[in-house]
Amino acid sequence: MKLKIENVTKVFGEKHAVDGVTVELTNGVYGFLGANGSGKTTLMRMLAAVSRPTTGTITLNGEEIGKMGDRYRDLLGYLPQHIGYYKHFTVEKFLYYIASLKGLEKHAAKEKVTELLETVNLTEKRKTKMGKLSGGMKQRVGIVQALLNDPKILIVDEPTAGLDPKERIRFRNLLAAIAKDRIVLLSTHIVSDIEYIAKEILIMKNGRLIEKDTPQNLIHYIQKKVWCVTAGEAEVPVYQSTFKVGNISRQPEGIELRIISEEKPAANAVNVPVNLEDLYLYYFDEEVGA
Ligand SMILES: Nc1ncnc2c1ncn2[C@@H]1O[C@H](COP(=O)(O)OP(=O)(O)OP(=O)(O)O)[C@@H](O)[C@H]1O
Ligand SMILES: [Mg+2]
Repeated sequence: MKLKIENVTKVFGEKHAVDGVTVELTNGVYGFLGANGSGKTTLMRMLAAVSRPTTGTITLNGEEIGKMGDRYRDLLGYLPQHIGYYKHFTVEKFLYYIASLKGLEKHAAKEKVTELLETVNLTEKRKTKMGKLSGGMKQRVGIVQALLNDPKILIVDEPTAGLDPKERIRFRNLLAAIAKDRIVLLSTHIVSDIEYIAKEILIMKNGRLIEKDTPQNLIHYIQKKVWCVTAGEAEVPVYQSTFKVGNISRQPEGIELRIISEEKPAANAVNVPVNLEDLYLYYFDEEVGA
């Protein structure tokens, strides 16, 4: 399967929310990173055929998705960033309702709902009203509804927002397990969600796609740019105003700063192993500490 995005732009008034994005997606997990407002949701909505590009085309195996109608929706699972629930419906009723919209037969729906509720660890909540669930539980119901029709293209917009660490790991494993023969696009602000399962990472900034590469290559790219510096209390603000500073930890021998810099930031600076958090900092330092 090949989902091809060619020169796609989405304009709201004067705002180019998505600005000339060209990218090709094939089977596997794509991790989608970008600061708030960088255009992730806008692009995902177009990929889910909820909205149309202002200019440019999106095709699946050569066919424009906007023209495929139900044939595209049958292949698609979509978890929007903000989803409206029916708070008076029980979990089960909500899911059967969505299953019927997706054209699943009753028996198949029942089997699938039972299986997926088990997968997201929500079986005992099946009779609970949606309005009584915690945020993380609602999110898990959202994940279930996206998977009901066994989608070949799964687009999930910040699926792990609000999940506790244990459920995040569970979800990550679930995605890794199902990703083999489908296209999965997952946006997140939590780098560890995608560090090990993403085939490639897409980085968006101001509506533009600025990177698309394997986690290994992206990490390799900043290999010699991540430093550890030990400093005194008074030097910390100086470093912060001069460099991109990540974690700051207090150690017996002084304060340790993690710094991203092309040049060695201090005489006592040493290069340290890079992780994807550093990558995020490299591209979106303005967000750190915000
Ligand atoms: N319907 C709309 N009308 C006007 N502007 C919009 C609309 N939808 C999005 N935007 C603008 O487009 C830009 C991209 O927004 P988008 O929601 O796609 O970002 P995002 O990367 O998903 O951000 P976040 O990480 O906060 O979810 C923002 O500046 C936003 O204000
Ligand atoms: Mg968004």
